[in-house]
Amino acid sequence: MNRLSTDQVREIFLEFFKEKGHSVISSASLIPENDPTVLFTTAGMHPLVPYLLGEPHPMGKRLADVQKCVRTGDIDEVGDNRHATFFEMLGNWSLGDYFKEEAIQWSYELLTDRFGIDPERLFVTVFKGDEDASRDDESINIWQAQFGVHGIGAEVGEAGKDEPTDKAMGPRIYTYPKENNWWGPAGVTGPCGPDTEIYFDTRKQHDFKFGPMCHPACDCGRFVEIWNNVFMQFNKRDDGKFEPLAQRNVDTGMGLERMAAMLQGVNTIFDTDLLQKLIKTLENVFGVAYGKDSDHDKSVRIIVDHIRAATFLIGDERGVVPSNVGQGYIVRRLIRRAVREARRMGITTLMSPTLAEAVIEEYGKTYPELTAHSQKVMSELKKEEEKFGLTLEHGLKEFKKTYDKDGLISGEKAFILYSTYGFPMELTEELVREQGGEVDMASFATEFAKHQELSRASSAGTFKGGLADHSEETTGLHTATHLLHQALRNVLGDRVAQKGSNITTERLRFDFVHPEKMTPEQIQKVESIVNEVIRRDLLVDYKEMTVSEAKAEGAIGLFEDKYGSKVKVYTVHDEADPRGFFSKEICGGPHVTRTGELGGFKIIKEEAVSAGVRRIKATLHN
Ligand code: ALA
Repeated sequence: MNRLSTDQVREIFLEFFKEKGHSVISSASLIPENDPTVLFTTAGMHPLVPYLLGEPHPMGKRLADVQKCVRTGDIDEVGDNRHATFFEMLGNWSLGDYFKEEAIQWSYELLTDRFGIDPERLFVTVFKGDEDASRDDESINIWQAQFGVHGIGAEVGEAGKDEPTDKAMGPRIYTYPKENNWWGPAGVTGPCGPDTEIYFDTRKQHDFKFGPMCHPACDCGRFVEIWNNVFMQFNKRDDGKFEPLAQRNVDTGMGLERMAAMLQGVNTIFDTDLLQKLIKTLENVFGVAYGKDSDHDKSVRIIVDHIRAATFLIGDERGVVPSNVGQGYIVRRLIRRAVREARRMGITTLMSPTLAEAVIEEYGKTYPELTAHSQKVMSELKKEEEKFGLTLEHGLKEFKKTYDKDGLISGEKAFILYSTYGFPMELTEELVREQGGEVDMASFATEFAKHQELSRASSAGTFKGGLADHSEETTGLHTATHLLHQALRNVLGDRVAQKGSNITTERLRFDFVHPEKMTPEQIQKVESIVNEVIRRDLLVDYKEMTVSEAKAEGAIGLFEDKYGSKVKVYTVHDEADPRGFFSKEICGGPHVTRTGELGGFKIIKEEAVSAGVRRIKATLHN
């Protein structure tokens, strides 16, 4: 096997697919443009969804790229040796061009021929078949022909029944149900299909904690997934049904660092050349040591991962800066957690800009936007790190005051330290423990739960209201969103349903299901209905009730039971309406108390977001 640097892996991949007639496109932004349901770009296919659905791509039907991705679902797991928030995904696509035959053949060729992987180390998985789609025999046959080139007999095996061996003959192709071998849609609906995943056999001993017999998708660590080929031949519809796509696509994804780790013969992504350079920067500049103390190692991994992600997010072409909402909140969390770890290791001088400089140095040639925005990255990091330094100082003072007075920290006090002073909870816990005490976590949890809906919502940026903060402007725009939603239903019919909402201090943005472009008359009608409701200064209030009570009262909104047993229902009362209200909607709030507080309502844009989904942007003015 070749010991390839991470940069070489990237180059060889792209060069290979160029040879096979692909256009190499540049990575799209980390901030998705037209998808209100996710915060960040999480896969190479994400920015390509319109083209996977049939829109022609200007660069043709064969594409390849390396896409920067951020996944925050496992943010709290970062620090072990596997998880990372930022990663690069290599991918190749066929937009209605080649299909399984070429895709699998090329995967095999690249891995064995260009990367020099011993084919006996490769195992693959394919879709087993169910009521939606049949077993992927086509892929099985193509794989067998590929392995056959090297005289390897690739039999079909079953997890739990057929033990994978290190012999040339034996089970090598395993079939699994949808949970393992089906990818997508990325959101609720959209392109998806069976996939075939390629695994590398590390030949480590099976860990029996994970079951009596190892198999490729086993979690014990013997097999590492290195590449996923998705055969997008279905579109998942609103009603959960799968319909065949007119255009059959190939979508593949290979985690760059994981591949590099494998080719470099190292155990973790943190031991690859690129990440080692970043770790070395920390060692050299701040005198910390990696690889000697597992506690320190954990901190180092968190710092390196988080500052790299923050650098990419701030330095993105659509860069985000630290804030308390949406994507900005994640950037803030990443930086603060990294700074916290740095302090824990005894680093008290400014740390993040130095590390960011190293990130830009290493990645700038692949991602020129980083170099272009390096000043911004440095200054935002510096600002945030200093601000958080003060937060820690104030919090510590406040902690001492409370502690000295009461001799203990109740859950409620701990929560105040956290919510008002931004003092990290685990720090409070640590300090209390140092004094031989304990924080009442149960009461902290109760306080936290009260607050959680809001913070989760703002960290996800994707909750029902999509509300940025609680300023007067956003509160007004939030109420205006409800009025707009109802007015759209009045004009276009009750099939109008909310798909997404996003509110800044300047404007509201509302995505909804509707099959066609609205006419100028319809837009005007909607606008005047909303303005009429504002003029009539109707009362707005809310009641808490169960979801079924809300339904019975005619409320619209998301009926999922995700807010717990009771939900808030906001009503805009209207005695002139036979129902007694103009609008009634399940919602977390907040809202104005009378519609008259809103000022004039204006729709500034009506456009398509995706097939069957329209977007309106609107403002309020005095
Ligand atoms: N979209 C596929 C993945 O992310 C390739 O695994």
